[in-house]
Amino acid sequence: MSSLFPTSRGALLKLRSGRNQKTNTYRLIHGAADDRDGLYVDRLADYLLVQSEHPLTEAQQETVQALRGALKSKGVYYKRLNRQVQKINKTTASARLLMGLEAPEFFNGTEHHLKYRISFNEGYSTGLFLDMRENRGRLLNNLIEPGFPVFERGVGAPKILNTFSYTCSLSVCAARAGASTTSLDLSQKYLEWGRENFRLNQLNPDDHDFIYGDTFDWIKRLAKRGELYDLVILDPPTFSRSKVSGLFQAKRDYGRLAKAASALVRKNGMLLACCNAVTLSPSSFKNEVRRGIRDGGRKIVQSFQAMQPADFPASQNEPAYLKVSWLRLN
Ligand SMILES: C[S@@+](CC[C@H](N)C(=O)[O-])C[C@H]1O[C@@H](n2cnc3c(N)ncnc32)[C@H](O)[C@@H]1O
Repeated sequence: MSSLFPTSRGALLKLRSGRNQKTNTYRLIHGAADDRDGLYVDRLADYLLVQSEHPLTEAQQETVQALRGALKSKGVYYKRLNRQVQKINKTTASARLLMGLEAPEFFNGTEHHLKYRISFNEGYSTGLFLDMRENRGRLLNNLIEPGFPVFERGVGAPKILNTFSYTCSLSVCAARAGASTTSLDLSQKYLEWGRENFRLNQLNPDDHDFIYGDTFDWIKRLAKRGELYDLVILDPPTFSRSKVSGLFQAKRDYGRLAKAASALVRKNGMLLACCNAVTLSPSSFKNEVRRGIRDGGRKIVQSFQAMQPADFPASQNEPAYLKVSWLRLN
């Protein structure tokens, strides 16, 4: 477990120093908790991605130079942080080269020895949400915490439904753990990116399902067909607008989503509920998810609340934003 989740100071230092051979994608500096208020730096294989709300100060530029030297990064990209993601377009959202060599349009990062396709040219996100690394590890190792497996081994491959799947990194981990996966997203581009992530990890995407569509609509369709899953994953954006189901706001609609999804979880199966909306407090999130599950007529029989990983340390100024509940339902 300890190598999976670097909770000790030593393990975090090892990860951030680049000495951890199986992962070269992680956060190097996470703002105030790392004594660098307003500065966020990610390592993405041979490149660094720097983000800040205000233009970099000289001291911040020196910090970045030092990191680049220590990790021998080929190039450094920069992006102005805009907390109102829904208001920006792809061009303003993309990162620009700050120092060194330009990155190829697509390159690969490594996490837990698996490969993921990364890009600085595809809008606000790079293809891999680094703060979900430990949850991907939990799926890959079929272990949420000691004594709490994701899948109880039975006959046949466990079935998972990954809604809001983005580039399907959680599906890749589940597939590598032996699951039969269905990834569902409103973006064809991200699903194709997901198929490429499968290929990069010696998984044939044709052996898995990819559904281009709206989560609310497809949950209804799959329920009508009587489909049941060993794990249903919910990781919606803070806001989304779909032609089919209209506006989704995590703060307002998470309970409704949890209720709908719990109908697809088989008896003693799992629901993984995630949310990175700062507008939804951890206690409201927990209450909303629990209310949704209860309204769906299900009961939680085992649960685990995952922490934000150690390379995303929380502080009083910047409390944890990521909320992740692993829930076994009766
Ligand atoms: C926060 S990302 C999910 C991250 C992903 N779970 C991961 O760990 O990489 C949100 C994704 O939801 C998709 N999305 C937004 N609204 C949707 C909807 N109504 N139905 C299906 N997918 C949607 C977006 O295209 C995007 O890929």
